[in-house]
Amino acid sequence: MAKMWAGRTSGETDSIADDFNSSIGFDSRMYRQDITGSMAHAAMLAKTGIIAGAEADELIDGLQGILDDLDSGRLDFDPSCEDIHMFVEQILTERLGDVGKKLHTARSRNDQVALDLRMYLRDEAAELVALVRELTEVLVSVAERNMKAVMPGYTHLQRAQPILFSHHIMAYAMMLLRDKARIEDAAKRMNMSPIGSCAFAGTTYHTDRAFEAEKLGFDGITQNSIDGVSDRDFCLELMSAIAILMMHLSRLSEEIVLWTSWEFKFVELSDSYTTGSSIMPQKKNSDMAELIRGKTGRVYGDLMALLTTLKGLPLAYNKDMQEDKEAVFDAVDTVKMCLKVMTPMVDTMKVIPENMRRAANEGFINATDLADYMVKKGLPFRTAYKISGSVVADCIKRGLVLDTYPLEDYKKFSELIDGDIYDEINIDHCVETRVSAGGTSSESVKTQIAWVREQLKS
Ligand code: ARG
Repeated sequence: MAKMWAGRTSGETDSIADDFNSSIGFDSRMYRQDITGSMAHAAMLAKTGIIAGAEADELIDGLQGILDDLDSGRLDFDPSCEDIHMFVEQILTERLGDVGKKLHTARSRNDQVALDLRMYLRDEAAELVALVRELTEVLVSVAERNMKAVMPGYTHLQRAQPILFSHHIMAYAMMLLRDKARIEDAAKRMNMSPIGSCAFAGTTYHTDRAFEAEKLGFDGITQNSIDGVSDRDFCLELMSAIAILMMHLSRLSEEIVLWTSWEFKFVELSDSYTTGSSIMPQKKNSDMAELIRGKTGRVYGDLMALLTTLKGLPLAYNKDMQEDKEAVFDAVDTVKMCLKVMTPMVDTMKVIPENMRRAANEGFINATDLADYMVKKGLPFRTAYKISGSVVADCIKRGLVLDTYPLEDYKKFSELIDGDIYDEINIDHCVETRVSAGGTSSESVKTQIAWVREQLKS
């Protein structure tokens, strides 16, 4: 069948070229946005006197009929149509005859696709925000439920200083709050209507872009018609924001994988979010966490693909830009899926405080507190640091820990050390005295929890 755009050419393309050129396989998911956009366009054409009011009514009714038929499954997408925009227009024209052919006045597929994609992604952004909020709330409640669990904090994956598990979890809540803000920010800038830019240069018709934008819930219109059809930075912004979000989910996933290993056993995942091995009967694998970590690469890839697609394109529209959709859809779909798994997985994971404490008691993670003790008695920190290190070395040699190291031996290293050292380096004491803002004491962590809850209210 000859194409709708047959004219200059015969419109008879090779079938392989057709398949190659077609985007309906992946842009059909924007049918609702496409149809809603067209309804507003018909209304604008009538309002400005470009078409008659009765014609607009007919177009809007026809479009509503197509929407209903697609929603209910009475109408199937025609893969031979080049894209969703052509498909809707073709069905409309089949159903309405010549009036259907008036819809495409004072617009182009170039501004139409930019419009549809912005409308589609602003809805996705809202869903992403809700999902991130939910995960943040779960993290806060996990932190709150486990305020007594003390674990070693790590640097270089070496036991470093004792912290509350809740403090560690709240670090992720803080990251997610920023992720949410980044998505909201991208959504805000995205919400400008490009429709009416037409092919790229604007139009000779006296259109009302602001009317159409307002009807579609935009905050305003794009101010330059070439920019309106040429840029996909709104996709890239959202993708950047969710790539960063995935980086955070991936780090948390990595920790979950570590924590559920026999070596750590800090947490146990619910059976609902683990798998077994087909050969090793003892296995309980953290596949979901591993997959989230794995899919992060894919989301980065989507972002890099679109950045690369766009980098060499002269203004205005180029067909390369059709590649935007698969990348951004895949990124958004993947991130939503990861969030939907991560949230209940974290919510249902069992924290094992005994194992955390055992690890905390074994790793000399109170060595900083031993040094600080001597500093408080007048020693310069560097000197105290050296002494504390030497005590640790002697402990290791003799199979002791700081908490069981005899006082007379302490005294050989420094006369400043007295019997009160044992209280001072007690792990709980080490945690509870870290009262600086943002620190690990339970007072401070409670403040953090309250702060995040407050942020989530807005
Ligand atoms: N399917 C196209 C896309 O996704 C729609 C815009 C086509 N415009 C054009 N002049 N060929 O980008």
